[in-house]
Amino acid sequence: MGSLFDFMLPELESPLTGASTDAVMAFIHIVSFIILAGVTIALIYFAIKYKRKSEDDETPLITHNNKLEITWSVIPLLLVFIVFGWGYKGWLNLQTPPDNAYEIHVSAYKWGWTFSYENGAQIGNEVHVPAGRPVKLVMQSQDVLHSFFVPDYRIKQDVLPNRYTTVWFQAEEEGESQVFCTEYCGTSHSDMLATVVAHTQEDFEAWLDEQNTGGGGTPVERGESLVSIQGCVTCHSVDGSQKIGPSFQGLFGREETMTNGTTLTADENYIRESILNPSAKIVEGYQNQMVSYEGRLSDDDISDIIEYIKTLED
Ligand code: CUA
Repeated sequence: MGSLFDFMLPELESPLTGASTDAVMAFIHIVSFIILAGVTIALIYFAIKYKRKSEDDETPLITHNNKLEITWSVIPLLLVFIVFGWGYKGWLNLQTPPDNAYEIHVSAYKWGWTFSYENGAQIGNEVHVPAGRPVKLVMQSQDVLHSFFVPDYRIKQDVLPNRYTTVWFQAEEEGESQVFCTEYCGTSHSDMLATVVAHTQEDFEAWLDEQNTGGGGTPVERGESLVSIQGCVTCHSVDGSQKIGPSFQGLFGREETMTNGTTLTADENYIRESILNPSAKIVEGYQNQMVSYEGRLSDDDISDIIEYIKTLED
């Protein structure tokens, strides 16, 4: 497609997430152009052909034409189905980060972005990523709604307070891409910018090693000490043994059956909810005995605990 569409979209830097978006967009434009051209040509042709030629020309009375009406209903319907099916497939892909994705935490606030790494490094308004590898962002807002948008990658995802949202991409080449906030969030919304810097894997690791980790330990280390300080381990074992509450071992990603018979997969949002509102979803076979940690744990604390639980595999 190349140059024909270059004036509409920036160059695609993450084909794994963006190729289908570009293809659907090209399809819609090409089909629209064909329909526009067809309608225009027919309009001009009929205007000339059926022009009133003399004073006693009479317009015939035509009420409807079944064949014509079915044709102009079914063709657009099929086109819309194609766009829907294609778009849905692309959306599913965007919703499903690859298992081997490199994870970075994103905290949005009025008006900026903080990116946190596994080794404890934090950096503002600049996110460094390895090229040629899928990257998954786990995002949360400290205040109002924001939205993380990288046009080069064709990804956009709302960032909300009190809930985690995720987005993924894979930059194929080294280079920089612009991040915008695309949810109006107050006075400096338009200044809420960041840059994605894609490095080779080697350069990325070197960059990460150089970052100041603040001496507070990694998120996993902080999480481990929190579950001990806050008393979580009194009721939740970390080695799979049976206690008052479900064990943390193997919890993340586990399919759980609730007391009301529904099942769910334990993810970031489920663990967060269970910490802040423990009675919301009780695992089958357990009692509602936990008190809320609302006000006792900050958003960062909760994210650290989740990172720690993720490491407790079966
Ligand atoms: Cu944040 Cu707009």
